[in-house]
Amino acid sequence: MARVLSGIQPSGDLHLGNYLGALRQWVQNQDRDDAYYCIVDLHALTQAIDPDELRRRTLETAAGFIAAGLDPEKVTMFVQSHVVAHTRLAWLLECTASMGELNRMTQFKDKGRGNDAVKVGLFTYPVLMAADILAYDADLVPVGEDQRQHIELTRDLANRFNFQYGDVLVVPEATIPAVGARVMDLQQPDRKMSKSIPSPLGRIDLFESAEDTMKKVKKAVTDTGDDVTYDPDGRPGVSNLLDLLAAATGGSPATLATNYTRFGDLKADVGTALVEMLAPLRARYTELMSDPSELTAVLRKGAEKASIVADATYDRAAAAMGLLAP
Ligand code: TYM
Repeated sequence: MARVLSGIQPSGDLHLGNYLGALRQWVQNQDRDDAYYCIVDLHALTQAIDPDELRRRTLETAAGFIAAGLDPEKVTMFVQSHVVAHTRLAWLLECTASMGELNRMTQFKDKGRGNDAVKVGLFTYPVLMAADILAYDADLVPVGEDQRQHIELTRDLANRFNFQYGDVLVVPEATIPAVGARVMDLQQPDRKMSKSIPSPLGRIDLFESAEDTMKKVKKAVTDTGDDVTYDPDGRPGVSNLLDLLAAATGGSPATLATNYTRFGDLKADVGTALVEMLAPLRARYTELMSDPSELTAVLRKGAEKASIVADATYDRAAAAMGLLAP
């Protein structure tokens, strides 16, 4: 059984990119894996967020995990800040990571480099993420394409730690889905769909109404020329729609393209396919949010189980580095 860990920030509504890049593969493999999935609330603190909003979104994200199909009886679901070993291990790893390698992280370059007011937490963000993963001796980390560089850093940190202190940490691998690994924004198809892009038209939120989904797909930006061809570099708009259709219905985007001569027909089919895929998720989500006490219980139990695994890894790492046992 592979040990698996992944996480999602509760910094906004879960969207189609989160589902196709991450959540869907978590659900597909939940019978196979020994999996730990966390809501990374500490990472959400690296960008300004209102405290009440963070609390609310943490619970909503937990509901989203279950609504997407995760079964808390099969996987361990928890909130990152409830398991103290994450930040303890992150400190140990910070004492092995270099400024240079963190400076090369594209996320930091995009969001903060060169700005003196940027928070230290945003800079050290990838080390906390490495701690999330390494604390569970994870073999596999199912994520979307945008997290690849972070997993590479995690591997570097683990290898370096092991070289210096002995065989303590498991070196993980990213698993990135064949379709849906990089869902693009519907309004700016050269940018990934993201919680932080303000235009709501560009993003399909997982639990939005069918009408909203149809409307957004209909308004999606397509490329110049009016033929339907699959060419992600040259024609990112229409290619993104074909990717979404492939992700929702199976089949390959290039083959699906041959069925269409008009954007309008393609958009109608993409909209319908997405609505059909998401309708059961939305129904479960609404039900779950009507009784948050159940969610709280799931998260408490998850944190207890996760702490046992993560504490043991922390203890191993701390001892290897020479910290005196209490
Ligand atoms: P986050 O919260 O931005 O995204 C959560 C997951 O969704 C995937 N994803 C996408 N996949 C395809 N297309 C998109 N447009 C898209 N947008 C997001 C992400 O790749 C990710 O798998 N740093 C992480 C959170 C994290 C984490 C971890 C992940 C913290 N600790 C440990 C794995 C393991 C992040 O910000 O993801």
